[in-house]
Amino acid sequence: MSSMTKIFAANWKLHKTPAESREFCTKLQAVKTTGEIMIFPPATSWEAFAAQKAFAWGAQNIWHEVKGAFTGENSAAVLKSLGGTLALVGHSERRQLFGETDELLAKKIKTLQSLAITPVLCIGETLDEREKNLTEKVLRHQLQHSLAGVDSAPRVIVAYEPVWAIGTGKVASEAQVRDAHAFVRTTLNETGFKNSQILYGGSVKADNAKGLNAIPHVDGFLIGGASLEVDSFTQIMQNAN
Ligand code: PGA
Repeated sequence: MSSMTKIFAANWKLHKTPAESREFCTKLQAVKTTGEIMIFPPATSWEAFAAQKAFAWGAQNIWHEVKGAFTGENSAAVLKSLGGTLALVGHSERRQLFGETDELLAKKIKTLQSLAITPVLCIGETLDEREKNLTEKVLRHQLQHSLAGVDSAPRVIVAYEPVWAIGTGKVASEAQVRDAHAFVRTTLNETGFKNSQILYGGSVKADNAKGLNAIPHVDGFLIGGASLEVDSFTQIMQNAN
């Protein structure tokens, strides 16, 4: 894949019924898009995505065991059987609301790799950590521990999402994104993940996509709120290109 192909990833969180998911795909197929599209619907819509071939899609979260007594969890093996090729790992909502640790995330990534599913590892600092000047320390720790023992040969995507910018409308400034992405790029290169692409996430909208897209080492976006409507999602793609 060309490194010039930007990624536009939609994280739907706990939104959309299967019918709404199908409707979105039909509508998006009618729009001319450039870039690599990835959609992360809730697990209840996995089957709706299995029925279409137009868009790459995946899980918002999986458990590191593929079957067993894990009530309420989702299996990467089931994802695979339905044609899902991607999975978010360690979204800040998983880390903060569900207590997921870097050590757990490394297990999840290894399970995904064993099934040839591409992980999208999410990292990012809280506002408190940024204000205490801990951003780089936090990002380095998250990368080193979540990727400990992970094979760097298969595709591994990283999403930098400052926690304070997620769902808040407070997008990081271009200087903050430039610094963070340069740091993540260097850290990934040092740890052998030279081919990993780095997405920015956190209040990405049509009106800030162009500026963010021009920043070095921004290989695409992970988009929450603005990915829920085909119009706002495609406007981001158009403005970024
Ligand atoms: P947001 O969410 O675009 O609504 O800020 C991004 C994310 O949580 O991945």
